[in-house]
Amino acid sequence: MTQATNLKLKPVQANGEHDSDHSLDWWRGAVIYQVYPRSFCDTNEDGIGDLQGVISKLDYISDLGVDALWVSPFFKSPMNDFGYDISDYRDVDPIFGTLSDFDELVAQAKIRGIKIMIDQVLSHTSDQHQWFKTSRESKTNDKSDWYVWADAKADGSAPNNWIAIFGGSAWQWDEIRGQYYLHNFLSSQPDLNFHCDELRAQILEEIEFWLKRGVDGFRLDAINFCYHDKSLRDNPFKPLEERTGRGFSPDNPYAAQYHYFDNTQDENLSFLEEVRSLLDNYPGTVALGEINSEDSLKTLSEYTQGDRRLHMGYNFELLADEFSPEHIRNTVNSLESVIGEGWPCWAVSNHDVIRVVSRWGDGVHNTQFAKMTLALAASLRGTLCVYQGEELGFTEANIQQHQLQDPFGIEFWPEFKGRDGCRTPIAWNDDQPHAGFSNRNSWLPVADEHRRHNVAAQVEDNASVLNFYKQFLRWRATQRVLIEGAIKFLDSPEQVLIIHRSHNGEHITACFNLSAEPITFAAPVINKQTPLQGLGVTLDTTIEGLSVSLEPYGFAYFS
Ligand code: BGC
Repeated sequence: MTQATNLKLKPVQANGEHDSDHSLDWWRGAVIYQVYPRSFCDTNEDGIGDLQGVISKLDYISDLGVDALWVSPFFKSPMNDFGYDISDYRDVDPIFGTLSDFDELVAQAKIRGIKIMIDQVLSHTSDQHQWFKTSRESKTNDKSDWYVWADAKADGSAPNNWIAIFGGSAWQWDEIRGQYYLHNFLSSQPDLNFHCDELRAQILEEIEFWLKRGVDGFRLDAINFCYHDKSLRDNPFKPLEERTGRGFSPDNPYAAQYHYFDNTQDENLSFLEEVRSLLDNYPGTVALGEINSEDSLKTLSEYTQGDRRLHMGYNFELLADEFSPEHIRNTVNSLESVIGEGWPCWAVSNHDVIRVVSRWGDGVHNTQFAKMTLALAASLRGTLCVYQGEELGFTEANIQQHQLQDPFGIEFWPEFKGRDGCRTPIAWNDDQPHAGFSNRNSWLPVADEHRRHNVAAQVEDNASVLNFYKQFLRWRATQRVLIEGAIKFLDSPEQVLIIHRSHNGEHITACFNLSAEPITFAAPVINKQTPLQGLGVTLDTTIEGLSVSLEPYGFAYFS
């Protein structure tokens, strides 16, 4: 079950060579299943999922063949950003349960060989956190420097031109303190001041609280946002043609600046080293940093270099709208050219972006598309995060304006519809009210289309996306070359992506048709002209002579 655990893995350098023994690195090439607990399973009948709900589904998760569980925030919070606005780092919000529920989750996961990773939102808190309440009271109290406070300009306006991702200026005037405070997200999510030594020391203690409770690792939210430029320089203007948008849409005013000064400051590297030293006291624990900077791949490389910083970096390149063999090739090649000893973590879906089947697919071949995207993402060099519902091939749910919950969507509707469409509850079956998610109306509706693709129905269907996930992940776990091998791309027709992985003389070549049209092309130069067996599925490929035929969104593996 725990496929990457116990494997004798070594890091693969950009040139494909291995340089040191990392035999205990369970996380290299692992598969991490992301649970968004609000929408997973509700056991206390309030229409919102909870920790007992996650516990009740651990066998389901274990059956998928994943190595670890990343649980999105369940800490005390006013829920303005649904838990990414924490008001107490050390407690569970009553909506989700209690600390003893959390302990039970860790214990039950351990029994099943599943590692538990939790979200740590370190760059900001909720304005309801006691630290902020104290900090805003005066300029002289012991927490006065824990947040980023600045005086107004002479005309009363904000200290500089920084913009919040969720809309408006990144500065909020505070009457009580008579100063502005910085917030990169909602105004109710004030940024912590990592230039302050006491704050940093306190944050490490918050992390250690969870290490002592037995967690195996952390997903560090917005980790490159911890530091800002101390002298508060204005960000430069970004011309239209360069606005791409990762984690925000290109028409968000946030995209109109180069974010040189509001995030990704050099000082962050020493903080990451402090985090790593702490984790090293708890062997086997890992840090996965969420990175969204001007040059995310370069930052990812810096943040994961050597054995003293983060273990893995999570990037947004495959969470973007762009979808083509060229985009994937360019992304991976750019990363490989800078990654050195660093280690990436890939994801094609999460709780912040449109579900991959709707974002990249053609709306017709959804089942095949969902299978292909798993195979593709799991064939890249790195660790993989799978977001709940992805294993069911869920599409983006259609949310009406009156149903909106996400403040990001409420601010930018209708140009950007927010993140509710990827956060709707899991449909467990179709014979219970609310699809087995809850006994009462859920906080977001269960999508009708998801009901049709509910878990119980997919368990019974050999051709389902769910059964493919189980079979594929088990097969992948046996292919060390896919977990630790070097990666390169072979020449292919425009709509085809051919990935070649190699390790200790073993090779796997994987061909993906990224189009809705069948295609036949000359077989790549491969060792044996035979498709790999044991995938647990019928391959959508035929080989005639030296050509490969792939169905729409078909794929094939050769050894
Ligand atoms: C999380 C988002 C959250 C934001 C602010 C992120 O990158 O993934 O869901 O809204 O950080 O905490």
